[in-house]
Amino acid sequence: MKVKGFLKDVGGASRITKARISAIDNASPVPVKVDPIHEVAYALHPGRIELVVTDIRPANSTCKTVRLQAADGRRLPLFRAGQYIVLDFQIGDSLVSRPYSISSAPLCTVGEDSFVEVTVRSGDGKLFVSDYVWNELKVGDHLSGIVGCGDFFYEPLRDAYHVVALAGGVGITPFASMAAEVAAGRLDIDLTIIYGAQRHDDIILWKELAPLEGEHVHFVHVISGEDPDWQGERGFITAELIKKYSHEDTTYFVCGPQPMYLHLYKEFDKLDLPARRVRFEVFGPVKDISQYEGYPQEAKGKTFALTVVRGIHEDVIPVRADESLAVALERAGIRIETGCRSGECGFCRSKVLSGHVYVSPVSDGRRAADKDFGYVHACAAYPLSDVKLKVPIL
Ligand SMILES: Cc1cc2nc3c(=O)[nH]c(=O)nc-3n(C[C@H](O)[C@H](O)[C@H](O)COP(=O)(O)OP(=O)(O)OC[C@H]3O[C@@H](n4cnc5c(N)ncnc54)[C@H](O)[C@@H]3O)c2cc1C
Ligand code: FES
Repeated sequence: MKVKGFLKDVGGASRITKARISAIDNASPVPVKVDPIHEVAYALHPGRIELVVTDIRPANSTCKTVRLQAADGRRLPLFRAGQYIVLDFQIGDSLVSRPYSISSAPLCTVGEDSFVEVTVRSGDGKLFVSDYVWNELKVGDHLSGIVGCGDFFYEPLRDAYHVVALAGGVGITPFASMAAEVAAGRLDIDLTIIYGAQRHDDIILWKELAPLEGEHVHFVHVISGEDPDWQGERGFITAELIKKYSHEDTTYFVCGPQPMYLHLYKEFDKLDLPARRVRFEVFGPVKDISQYEGYPQEAKGKTFALTVVRGIHEDVIPVRADESLAVALERAGIRIETGCRSGECGFCRSKVLSGHVYVSPVSDGRRAADKDFGYVHACAAYPLSDVKLKVPIL
């Protein structure tokens, strides 16, 4: 900015002050109800919002779809088809978060009845949050959540017009959102969803998806188990099958359980595609950290002390060697921001002040500088000794 000289600047400032006073004096006494800047900021960067469960219904015999709306009745923020929501749950003394791909289309957030839906697989009595969602969550419950996380979405500047989506199990959810958006003419791509399932009645969300099949949305089910009546593709998703449904220039999106990824990494190797054409969604925490290369086996089964530093406040909590630092914090009811729980997003970035940790080699999304300066992503770091950890104050 140009400095015009002391007297001119003071004169200018006093003219602005007078103009402001006059604008305030002449303003309408009726309070402003609509603030467009605030509305745009909320739509783009809403942060954590209060949600209420307005519907729960079966998606098939193993999954339930949960509808969420803003507790204050506002329109939900924008997101891109394929992104996930992070939901917070208070379960007993634990304060935990989990990511869920949004199974409804972005178009469902438009209008009065603005909502998002997630489709959650049953935990069969073995999983902590899934079981809570299945057995205890009910219509009218309040949850907080962050809508629209992750970069698993179609981007026309980067991706090809022809998209082949490969899904397994509940990994169909981001593609259900994309398919609805394409069918409504809001996403200009040609989408083929190849879905691997054991039997045809295992297909999740089929009642919602079947009517979307059309000019630009195609479904290929690949059945791997005993299913005598099945007429379509059989076996596992192989390189040949992927090729059969591909165009010359195709972008591939993959979402499913970790074993499916291990199988598909090999199949994609056979296709020898440019890396930018194949996108895998993050898969969450690894099942057994002790099986990864370099993990010191003597740590298995041990429990260590985790000193948690938040500003001047310190707590000492137990942390099991087979659980990440983020899980230990959540078990103790200490809030830690998490998003992907796969080491990618950096929401849970924390600093190790002392002690040793093992960072999951398949979930180490840290920046080089963070590695040099002792930062870890708490969702992907496992204790090998007593640890002192500085976490962001929330
Ligand atoms: C990007 C993304 C999208 C996803 N989308 C979907 C989806 O659409 N649908 C779906 O069903 N799932 C989805 N998931 C998986 C989902 O996030 C959860 O992993 C899944 O619901 C299972 O969670 P869980 O806690 O029940 O079980 P687990 O993931 O197995 O978690 C159990 C964890 O909880 C810890 N734990 C056990 N007891 C406690 C306690 N008392 N306090 C604190 N922690 C404890 C355990 O140590 C363990 O680490 C997605 C995951 C990712 C990464
Ligand atoms: S939650 Fe994403 S990096 Fe830890």
